[in-house]
Amino acid sequence: MTLAIDGGTPIRQRPFPEYRTIGDEEKRAVMAVLDSGVLSQFVGVWGPDFLGGPRVRALEAAWSEYFGTAHAVTMNSATSGLYAAVGAAGVGPGDEVIVSPYTMSASAAAALVYGAIPVFADIEPATFCLDPASVRARITPRTKAIIAVDLFGHPAAWDELRRIVRDTGILLIEDAAQAPGARDRGRWAGTLGDIGVFSLNYHKTIHCGEGGVVVTDDDRLAERLQLIRNHGEAVVKAKGETDLVNLIGFNYRMTEIEAAIALEQLKKLEELVVPRVRAADYLTAKLAGAPGLTPPAVRPDVRHGYYVYALRFDAAGAGMTRGRFADALRAEGIPVNVGYVEPLYRQPMYRAGIGFGREGFPFRQPGRPTVTYPDGLCPVAERMHERELLYFTFCHAGIERADLDDVVAGITKVLEHARQAVTA
Ligand SMILES: Cc1ncc(COP(=O)(O)O)c(C=O)c1O
Repeated sequence: MTLAIDGGTPIRQRPFPEYRTIGDEEKRAVMAVLDSGVLSQFVGVWGPDFLGGPRVRALEAAWSEYFGTAHAVTMNSATSGLYAAVGAAGVGPGDEVIVSPYTMSASAAAALVYGAIPVFADIEPATFCLDPASVRARITPRTKAIIAVDLFGHPAAWDELRRIVRDTGILLIEDAAQAPGARDRGRWAGTLGDIGVFSLNYHKTIHCGEGGVVVTDDDRLAERLQLIRNHGEAVVKAKGETDLVNLIGFNYRMTEIEAAIALEQLKKLEELVVPRVRAADYLTAKLAGAPGLTPPAVRPDVRHGYYVYALRFDAAGAGMTRGRFADALRAEGIPVNVGYVEPLYRQPMYRAGIGFGREGFPFRQPGRPTVTYPDGLCPVAERMHERELLYFTFCHAGIERADLDDVVAGITKVLEHARQAVTA
């Protein structure tokens, strides 16, 4: 069969189902907010409305009940949530925060916002999450927090991370933006660190347009999150707060409209995660033994949330480059993504060592060695990005067996063609 990239007929000629989860429930909930006339009830002064309006509070109550945490604090994004989490942890200039380079940029920017230095540790090739051995090697007396990401929906190695920080005072911040509904031995992703951060942006498993939720069992951290969310500096006096560290506040407040949508989406979480797992399991079974492809690894007793379905590619095994494989597969009508993000330390900000102001703070500070981020810092992340990682975004509710069979047929066609070219 001639490959579509060489002029043959594509395996698939229609688009894959889109991910649409907003229904009548969300529409009704939004109309009720509009009818109430109160689109946000937050006020940045100490008093009853400091904690927001009825939907915001209802969402926080429902979220903490669902995930079994003492507190849930809504934010207007997971980015805000990560920033607030680092602030609540008391991180400041001179501190270091260990973080993965293979994640959305805010996971590391959260450290910079408080003047701390992101220290990049490498990732595990199997799960793409932080490698505990690399984390251990990068801990110094200045390490104040570790931000581990449950990348693509697979929980990081939280048990080992917990063992590493035992008796050190280092706080574990879980970036679970991509992992709502994932579990590790029965415990929800997002609740595996000291503070967990979820995203409700449009692209996530459940969403409300833009939004985030931070969970913790620690009363004091929750209080600090609330202050950072809502103009803490204007509130501390009336509240009687005496520890002022990092209590300069922001406006990270979620509106009543987003909260109303998120409340409905939370009810759908399980029914939106299960089809992802089903589709992923089906693909993994069908792709077993495909030369040059390694389907996503899942640690024992983990439920992967499959924000995306990520595979590893081996050019020698497949008999072609990753670029050629991806181009050929796309020509067959199967959308595939190559690599994820460039390892974060290759972003211009890290490369140039320019954060805040013209003097290069926090990378350059008087009396301290300049922090640089050379290539080769995290070789596994670099290898995944440059040579191995591929991912699909269509393993979600709405995808049918027939769609997945097209994916398998497209992959088989491309790989088979390469095999025949080698043996011909
Ligand atoms: C791992 C990770 N962390 C943080 C974020 C930030 O989420 P938000 O867009 O809600 O700020 C994202 C969003 O893409 C993400 O994937």
